Amino acid sequence: MPSLPAVSKTHEFDVIVVGAGGAGLRAAIEASREGARTAIICKSLLGKAHTVMAEGGAAAALRNTDPRDTWKVHFRDTIRGSKYLSQWPMAMLHAQEAPERIRELERWGAVFDRTKDGWINQRNFGGHQYPRLAHVGDRTGLELIRTLQDKGVHSGIEVFMEVTVTKLFTKDGTVTGCLAYERETGKFHLFKAKSVVVATGGFGKAWKYNSNSWEYTGDGHTLAYEAGAELMDMEFFQFHPTGMVWPPSVRGTLVTEGVRGEGGILRNSEGKRFMYDYIPEMFQGDFAETEEEVQRWLDGDKDARRPPELLTRDVVARAIRSEVKAGRGTEHGGVYLDISWRDAEYVKKKLPSMYHQFKELANVDITKVPMEVGPTAHYAMGGIRVDHESQESTTVRGLYACGECAAGLHGANRLGGNSLTDLLVFGKRAGEHAARRALETKEHPEIPAEEVQAAIDAAVAPLERESGENPFKVHEELEELMQDNAGMIREAEDLKKALEGLAAFAERVRNIKVGGNIQYNPGWHEALDIHNLLVCAEATARAALEREESRGGHTRADFPQSDAEYWQHHNIVLKKGADGRMEVRRVPLTPWSDEVNRIMEASAEELSGDTHAEVHPL
Ligand code: FUM
Repeated sequence: MPSLPAVSKTHEFDVIVVGAGGAGLRAAIEASREGARTAIICKSLLGKAHTVMAEGGAAAALRNTDPRDTWKVHFRDTIRGSKYLSQWPMAMLHAQEAPERIRELERWGAVFDRTKDGWINQRNFGGHQYPRLAHVGDRTGLELIRTLQDKGVHSGIEVFMEVTVTKLFTKDGTVTGCLAYERETGKFHLFKAKSVVVATGGFGKAWKYNSNSWEYTGDGHTLAYEAGAELMDMEFFQFHPTGMVWPPSVRGTLVTEGVRGEGGILRNSEGKRFMYDYIPEMFQGDFAETEEEVQRWLDGDKDARRPPELLTRDVVARAIRSEVKAGRGTEHGGVYLDISWRDAEYVKKKLPSMYHQFKELANVDITKVPMEVGPTAHYAMGGIRVDHESQESTTVRGLYACGECAAGLHGANRLGGNSLTDLLVFGKRAGEHAARRALETKEHPEIPAEEVQAAIDAAVAPLERESGENPFKVHEELEELMQDNAGMIREAEDLKKALEGLAAFAERVRNIKVGGNIQYNPGWHEALDIHNLLVCAEATARAALEREESRGGHTRADFPQSDAEYWQHHNIVLKKGADGRMEVRRVPLTPWSDEVNRIMEASAEELSGDTHAEVHPL
């Protein structure tokens, strides 16, 4: 390969945002609003993001559909849903600020579904006590992205699309910029920055059956980890209960929780509505136990309890898996999800994407027959450990993270719909704090030329080897290894197998050979992505092996119970020692304040009627 210029262009910005999904866009809008010169770098297109997979809605206690809702109820639902591992200061900010972030989005042009009286409509979702999800049919994430894109392109932000970041530079524990390359030409760019916000989403591409698209390879997690950031809660990966299971080519594609929110019923191959059998002790009393009570709830009886299909995702996913394991699954290894009992026109209006998805991909008319569904890897609860107010990394100054690649809000299990308001609330906060820091920083520190050259050499190494492995094959085998040994249900023996396998992969990745040249070369991009996936997969397996209990998205077959005494802490993964080995360390949870104790113990009546989330006329 002919030798390359070290860098084809050098840029200077106050704030660089890596990633252009909802979190990145929201952060960039805020940074720009604060007066910082801001750029977004994204490896795909602006707004082409997993955000759109939050189809069913954005959770905020707007109180439009049920006035009993308040930020305190939302906060409590989030803490309980997280199986008590959510960082409560984040959950509190999230619940308090989510309604205003939704209204702001509306002011920026988002068009939500309405109630008959013209309010933003809200639907039910798992783990939310009241109908809380502002939605646009089943295309909520898409509408959110459309609105933020529109706002973003008019905010004076510079955008570098189809540009991949391969390295974050630091000096004395402070971020100084990043190296990136144009995917089309292979040209390298050096970005000097006073603050960097990482908003690259998750790493669902580590599993064979997932709802993610090709971008989700843990880039931000790995960039931050290698720059010295701590990763937290990496053992908790959410398997969404309902992905398509048939046909094989689309297995894993998301089936929105909105289907259950609109009354979808889960049945096994014997026709039994099985979720009644899976109501866990902590939720006993909150969910209907008979068809008659479900019917009353559907008829609008405020005293009736919710149907058990609206239990939290971890519970529903495990229940589906148990039914299939027990031989009561469908022909293709799933269960049935039935919305066909509802009026066909209503289904097409509220779930248009699902209607078309099943019609076009599986030749199934969901207004007439049930869907076949099963769990699919969906969302990383674990990520970069940040300060709850500012979203700044706990260990790298000037590095911020928001959205799926930041940890803290969701603990062991995320409630559906909390991801969209998470990225709005904490995207805004990250952008604001990154900008303020940048504006207080006088000059861009120098990035030593030899560090830049070493980063370029490392990036192009797969192109320069004489021979080696095919990166696509390595990725395929990695997905199988994780699916089989570090999936929804794990145990020590399998996790050790995963770690041994990952160590062997690390060696293989060091020997990947990519044919062709540096210009648009998918094999090369894949080779770099696999490195990131490997880091995230190892962090997941190590933290999962360490946590000898079951909680939320982490189920240990060999430790099936939750251990409240010993495991009320976070696992932190960090790079240690001269050889850069991965270390897992425990840190305690932030103790609950008196206010948190009061909220967690209050009755529903005590929490309702609070005025913080004011009723907001249109
Ligand atoms: O099921 C869904 O619509 C996904 C929502 C989410 O992950 O928040």
